[in-house]
Amino acid sequence: MFNIPYDSSNLPEINSLTAKCYDNVNPEEVEPVKRIGVLTSGGDAPGMNATIRAVVRAGINSGLEVYGVTRGFHGLWKGEIAPIGMRDVSEKLQRGGTFLMTARSKTFETDLGVLKGAKMMEVYNLDALIVSGGDGSFKGARALARLGVPVIGIPGTIDNDIGCTDYTIGYDTSMNTAMEAIDKLRDTASSHERCSVIEVMGRRAGYIALNVGIATGAEVILIPEVPFDFDRDVLRVILDGRNKGKRHYIVIVAEGSGKAADIAKKIEEETGIESRPTILGHLQRGGSPTLRDRTTASLMGVHAIDCLLNKKYNRIIIEKEGKITDIDIEEGLAMKKTIPSIEIDNAKRLS
Ligand code: F6P
Repeated sequence: MFNIPYDSSNLPEINSLTAKCYDNVNPEEVEPVKRIGVLTSGGDAPGMNATIRAVVRAGINSGLEVYGVTRGFHGLWKGEIAPIGMRDVSEKLQRGGTFLMTARSKTFETDLGVLKGAKMMEVYNLDALIVSGGDGSFKGARALARLGVPVIGIPGTIDNDIGCTDYTIGYDTSMNTAMEAIDKLRDTASSHERCSVIEVMGRRAGYIALNVGIATGAEVILIPEVPFDFDRDVLRVILDGRNKGKRHYIVIVAEGSGKAADIAKKIEEETGIESRPTILGHLQRGGSPTLRDRTTASLMGVHAIDCLLNKKYNRIIIEKEGKITDIDIEEGLAMKKTIPSIEIDNAKRLS
């Protein structure tokens, strides 16, 4: 086991450590895992249940014992850990949310919290931990890895904002949910000849806003990656549209770009066009996962188990150019991604 120093007077400075990279390590010298934990952390995402199911099924079918940790890292340091069997994951594939529950653990952002988590891994004889979540959750996993706990991260967030992977589980479902809601808002905007300003999630990223904007034929899409000028990028576009005969307007605002209420008020004041704000909010995080999210979650879960069986530890499972593969956790967390300018230009050309 990892031999964790559980003495708060003797805290290692976890951030100054580096997780061991297993890229060039002789597998013969690495202990095989027998018993593993799985948890979901951060904001839930549709497909997290499919991820847990895949880890449990592929893990048990490969001879591993699998333990579920409830409430993310919060449950880990509190020792909320119990075995999960094949039957425990039946009827979960199609369900939104996460049956292991999730949390944003402030304690786990401290060295003592991480140390407690690592200690619980030892107490329950867990050889490795699989973490489904966003980059905040991966930072928690990396802190454990820096203490010697083998970890695997599986990207689960609706925001699609993890630098090292082209795709994150939950993104497709949340966009479809938003698209359906916006189609309904268009019906009423059209009947009343109004402007509908819709705020979508995404934290500091505009992936959801941009693609949902394209899919719903929005006149204006505001994303944090592109600073906007209200007169040029909102007002002028709406007025030009009206002059060409448009009678209703859809404006999509990424939450990282501004507030729907402020933008709607300003549009109404400046143009006289009745405008209504809608915040889609947590609606975008719920619902049955789409085929894309179910299959990606299932295949990433299997890949995570394969990494552990092949003694490839401290990895993030990623999708690159349509293929599921993996990357070292330190390397993966250092990567940034941005929306290609061609996608932004294309969206403008469709307005
Ligand atoms: O990261 C997923 C996400 O839904 C973001 O899009 C959003 O900014 C945030 O989580 C909301 O967090 P909470 O559920 O804590 O309100």
